[in-house]
Amino acid sequence: MEIKAIRGFNDILPDEIGKWQFLEITAREVFEGFGFSEIRIPILERTELFSRGIGEATDIVEKEMYTFTDRSGNSLTLRPEATASMARAYLEHQLYTFDPVAKLYCIGPMFRYERPQKGRFRQFYQIDAEVFGVENPMVDAEVIVMLIDFLKRVGLEKLELQINSLGCRDCRPRYREELKKFFAQKAFQLCEDCRRRLDTNPLRIFDCKVETCREAIVDAPKVIHFICSKCKMHFDQVKGYLETAGLSYVLNPKMVRGLDYYTRTAFEVVSYQLGSQNAVTGGGRYDNLFQEIGGLDIPGIGFAIGMERLVSLLPKDKEFIQTPHLFVAILGEKTIKEAYRIINQLHLQGIRAECDYEGKSLKSQMRRADKLKAQYVLILGENELKRGKAVLRNMGNKVQEEIPILDLVNIIKEKARHQE
Ligand code: HAM
Repeated sequence: MEIKAIRGFNDILPDEIGKWQFLEITAREVFEGFGFSEIRIPILERTELFSRGIGEATDIVEKEMYTFTDRSGNSLTLRPEATASMARAYLEHQLYTFDPVAKLYCIGPMFRYERPQKGRFRQFYQIDAEVFGVENPMVDAEVIVMLIDFLKRVGLEKLELQINSLGCRDCRPRYREELKKFFAQKAFQLCEDCRRRLDTNPLRIFDCKVETCREAIVDAPKVIHFICSKCKMHFDQVKGYLETAGLSYVLNPKMVRGLDYYTRTAFEVVSYQLGSQNAVTGGGRYDNLFQEIGGLDIPGIGFAIGMERLVSLLPKDKEFIQTPHLFVAILGEKTIKEAYRIINQLHLQGIRAECDYEGKSLKSQMRRADKLKAQYVLILGENELKRGKAVLRNMGNKVQEEIPILDLVNIIKEKARHQE
């Protein structure tokens, strides 16, 4: 029987890869410009990193992790997100001894056992950026501005930045109690999961998709009305810096984010071009995560962009596909060896050159060049070769010219530079 990929796990095929590479290159460019450095972290971690970091009573930890016991009896988990791993790496390698402030990004696959649907997969890619070691609200704005700059540079439109403040360890408990009281009166309306969450983690009721639960949250108390004066001041300053940067935002008092580590600033970017899975990015501040996983009191803030959702939003008319710069059409047996010498030279000089391996007619070679969207075709005929020449055809404007083979590499490089 034919073996197929696992449900929710996708292949990214060569005709789509241009978009992915474009996003990755742009992210690197933008983030490095904002002072971020790349970090690569393992895909597998000890399970307790996530259960302690993300929170036992979250959907991710309760039911979405790919967890298994390895041959030595250790419980390991495929990372469902990158923030906890990046924090672990920062602690483990004591990056704070070099500089207390670390600005890091990472790009790679995450794994969650969710029900696959449009925009939701079991293996999905995130572009993740984090700042460790700064409590100052200026950095909240910096991170959000970087995110929006990136999204705009890749051509996204119809985006909305939503922000909220989730309070801190001092003010959250009072809010939790209020929520419990409120939902206890509505318990009859809540699904079985949410009735359980009432005790374990009432904030998570906000994320429930069950219709009756969604009705129950309409009048629920909002965290923003319970935050302490320090959190309020922090949030006001974040908003002030966003305004200084000229960024518009929408306050969303019902946004609580699905992971337990968040404190104070929380944000999402949603796109009205997407369906129900409309969050392109989620992020926020997490001033207690480091304590949960390593006992140090280090603040942090960051975000993760879902790459599949972003890819689906990229402008349709933009050309992302990598095209060979050059197709070499070989005419006649006697030219094959010389053609190979030329193609080899082009490859070694970093020029994308493709050719026909089957000795086909010029017509069919030209058809293939067309299909591969070659920008130029180099026609190598016996007579021209004898004179040290070849014909170069511009596939865009169909103009042909005879060029000296000795200058070929320079000519092609020059043309590629100017994208004639
Ligand atoms: P998250 O909201 O769970 O946050 O995920 C961030 C983004 O990843 C979402 O907005 C979405 O675009 C994408 N995403 C999540 N789950 C899936 C899925 N099953 N299929 C496709 N895309 C998905 C986090 O992961 C936090 N670590 C973000 C963060 C970083 N907060 C602070 N720093």
